Amino acid sequence: MVAAPGVREWWPSADEPERVREELRSDADYATFAIEVDGELAGWLGVEEEDDPYYRSAALDIILAPGYQGRGLGPEALRTMIRRLIEERGHHRFTIDPAVENERAIRAYESVGFKPVGVTRRSERRPDGTWRDSLLMDLLAEELR
Ligand SMILES: CC(C)(COP(=O)(O)OP(=O)(O)OC[C@H]1O[C@@H](n2cnc3c(N)ncnc32)[C@H](O)[C@@H]1OP(=O)(O)O)[C@@H](O)C(=O)NCCC(=O)NCCS
Repeated sequence: MVAAPGVREWWPSADEPERVREELRSDADYATFAIEVDGELAGWLGVEEEDDPYYRSAALDIILAPGYQGRGLGPEALRTMIRRLIEERGHHRFTIDPAVENERAIRAYESVGFKPVGVTRRSERRPDGTWRDSLLMDLLAEELR
C-alpha cells in the first residue's frame, strides 16, 4: 500500500518496506489502526500521543490505498479517531504535518477543522532524497467538523 503510486510520493520511506514494517511493529509510542471498508484493508491511521500533562496532544498520520482515495474516507477516518481521542483519552489538541505540496491532504485536513500553524522548512525527505517543506496544522477539540 505504501509503495503504490499515489501513496509513495507522500511517504518518504516507501522504498524500504521492511523499514516501514519494523517502524509499525516496534515503535511503542506510535499506535497504528487499520482503516477497513466493507471488510477490506483500505488504509492506516497512526497516532502518537504526547503524554506530558503540560504539553498533551496527539499527532496523526494517515494513508489510504489508491482505490479508496478521493471519496471523503480520509476525513471520515480522522474524525472518528479524533472523537475517540477526545472522549476516551481526554485530548484537546491534535497536529498533522503534510508536505506543503500535498494539496489534497491539506484540503482533506482543513475539511476536518485543522488550521495551518506554519511551514517547517526542509523537514521531510522526498523519495528522491531531496528535502521538502511541511505544513504544520493543528486542531482544537471544539473545532472538529
Ligand atoms: C490525503 C488523504 C488521506 C485524503 O483523504 P481522501 O479521502 O482521499 O480525501 P477527500 O476525498 O476528502 O479529498 C480531499 C479534498 O482534496 C481535493 N483534491 C483531490 N485531489 C486534489 C489535488 N490533486 N489537488 C488539490 N485538491 C485535491 C478533493 O476535491 C477534496 O476537496 P473537497 O472536500 O473540497 O471536495 C488520501 O488521499 C491519501 O491517503 N493520500 C495518499 C497518501 C497521503 O498523501 N497521505 C497523507 C500524508 S500527510
